[in-house]
Amino acid sequence: MDRLVEVESLSVINIIDNDTDFLSTAASTKDGSVTYQSEVAQHVARGDATLYFPGFCCAAHGLSLLLTAVVGEQKRALLLDAGPCPQLWKANAKKLGIDLASVDSIVLSHYHADHSGGLPGAVAAIAEARKAAGKAPVHLDLHESKPASRAVQLPSGTVLPLQPETPSFEELQRLGGDMMLSRESHVLSECFFVSGHIPRKTRYEKGLVGSKRLEDNDWRDDCDIDEERYVAVKVKGGGIVVFSACSHAGIVNVCRHAIDLAGVPLLAVMGGFHLGGAGLEERVDDTIQDLLKLQPQAILPGHCTGWRAKAAIAQAMPDQYIPALAGARYVFAAS
Ligand SMILES: [Fe+2]
Repeated sequence: MDRLVEVESLSVINIIDNDTDFLSTAASTKDGSVTYQSEVAQHVARGDATLYFPGFCCAAHGLSLLLTAVVGEQKRALLLDAGPCPQLWKANAKKLGIDLASVDSIVLSHYHADHSGGLPGAVAAIAEARKAAGKAPVHLDLHESKPASRAVQLPSGTVLPLQPETPSFEELQRLGGDMMLSRESHVLSECFFVSGHIPRKTRYEKGLVGSKRLEDNDWRDDCDIDEERYVAVKVKGGGIVVFSACSHAGIVNVCRHAIDLAGVPLLAVMGGFHLGGAGLEERVDDTIQDLLKLQPQAILPGHCTGWRAKAAIAQAMPDQYIPALAGARYVFAAS
């Protein structure tokens, strides 16, 4: 992370998340270092004459975040994940008025359909927009170890494959992605850190209960989801902002790893903390105790965090809690 260039500010558009909230008033940290604008506030701010309900984003089980960093006079944009389906990704991106040609890189956190299902649509739409704008092909950053298929096993023993499958590397390349396969950590566009393997250190963060991967026509245990990466950005004078899409390595392991590498305080952590579901909700109390010790300025639990964990985090960290909502915009900057 030594090579990571600090950014003046970072804005995030939440294209897909599990929740939407039309009515609640906006929230920000007391020091103003992290702010968010709800979707309806965006419509009001741009002077829309009506509240056109079909024009609002739809939430879905999945995640897709567009990160745009200001580095000096330049803007750099990275898309983290694409949610569960192409049609939803394209519809929400259009409703949010996203300039697709501005997206320099697409990073997939891990091979689960709620993050990769929308990838073909996002890659094709961004590639087409960049071509029309005379820009270089979009950089598509994937982990080199892609399972043939993934599934979850229910307590009853039934194995449910996760669909749709992530398209092949060849197919994604054909759709216009300039493919980069890796397993080690690296930096994109000077300012986006893409992690490598996340060390599993806490005693209670034990991966995804019941996860399976297909190998040699057999469903093998795969609770580690070993290829998952996080993305981090250093904000000048503010600290590090961590984006952890599903946190199968454990959100505490993720944050500690990022803080250790960055050597700066945790400004904020956003994404799916995966604390919802059988065998996972028991981790909520330990997780919150350890997150409190990390003293983030803001915490934005979304996607797979689960309502019990979200409620508990909001209660334990009321001044830091900011909702992660489909259609909302966020700004992270030094206070
Ligand atoms: Fe997920």
